[in-house]
Amino acid sequence: MLPTRKIIAKVIGAGKEYKAGDTTITALQASTVDLLSGELTLIIGPSGSGKTTLLSLLGCVIYPSFGEVWIDGIKVSDLNEKSLAQIRLKKIGFVFQKFNLIAPLTALENVMMPLILQGISEKESKAKATAALEKVGMGDRLKNLSNDLSGGQQQRVAIARALVTDPEMMLCDEPTASLDIKSVGIVMKELKQLAEQGKAVAVVTHDTRLTPFADRIVYVVDGAISDKPIEEELSQK
Ligand SMILES: Nc1ncnc2c1ncn2[C@@H]1O[C@H](COP(=O)(O)OP(=O)(O)OP(=O)(O)O)[C@@H](O)[C@H]1O
Ligand SMILES: [Mg+2]
Repeated sequence: MLPTRKIIAKVIGAGKEYKAGDTTITALQASTVDLLSGELTLIIGPSGSGKTTLLSLLGCVIYPSFGEVWIDGIKVSDLNEKSLAQIRLKKIGFVFQKFNLIAPLTALENVMMPLILQGISEKESKAKATAALEKVGMGDRLKNLSNDLSGGQQQRVAIARALVTDPEMMLCDEPTASLDIKSVGIVMKELKQLAEQGKAVAVVTHDTRLTPFADRIVYVVDGAISDKPIEEELSQK
């Protein structure tokens, strides 16, 4: 039996503006989107359209300039930085577009980090981190410093770090950009499996190879979200 789907994250009329001198850049216009448990949502759009901004709002990485963000029934857009960090640690796995691995640490230490921050013992953290790295095919690179890994390998370590805490929500910004087709398949199957186990998974991509894995697609164009493909929008103009 399929688990009932519940709303894990909700962005309600939320957007983001940045001020640079006299000008205001609207990175994301007022947007409304839900992420549901049990679903893999793809977020697709051209460069600069606001995909990372939308994912960062969902992932509690930035505050909205207006509107609301809710995670698991909590209005997180009202929380202070410290409480927001707790929500990120407990509920969210985030794979950053630029990986954000900690350079002086090994692959294993990077993946252990969120567990150690949660107060889990070193022994248990090591076992869980090793298993997560093995899942993404990095079991033979545990002791390598992250800087010594290739782009695709760093990406896989970043994915292991996001899934090691078993979060309710996995948010991935271009997780397959540096991967060959075989690794794309491995990573996407893993993310799809997490969705099937009841997690809410969102993946930002340019990569049309990923559409067969999607339960739902959200398009982002010029800072606005839409459920219609970009080509359709253009042909209607
Ligand atoms: N911190 C910031 N300060 C100023 N402008 C920003 C900031 N972050 C994003 N922007 C601007 O907001 C817009 C949307 O950026 P965003 O990173 O969300 O795009 P994206 O769709 O993820 O692009 P890409 O596919 O290239 O990663 C861009 O025009 C960007 O320059
Ligand atoms: Mg981006």
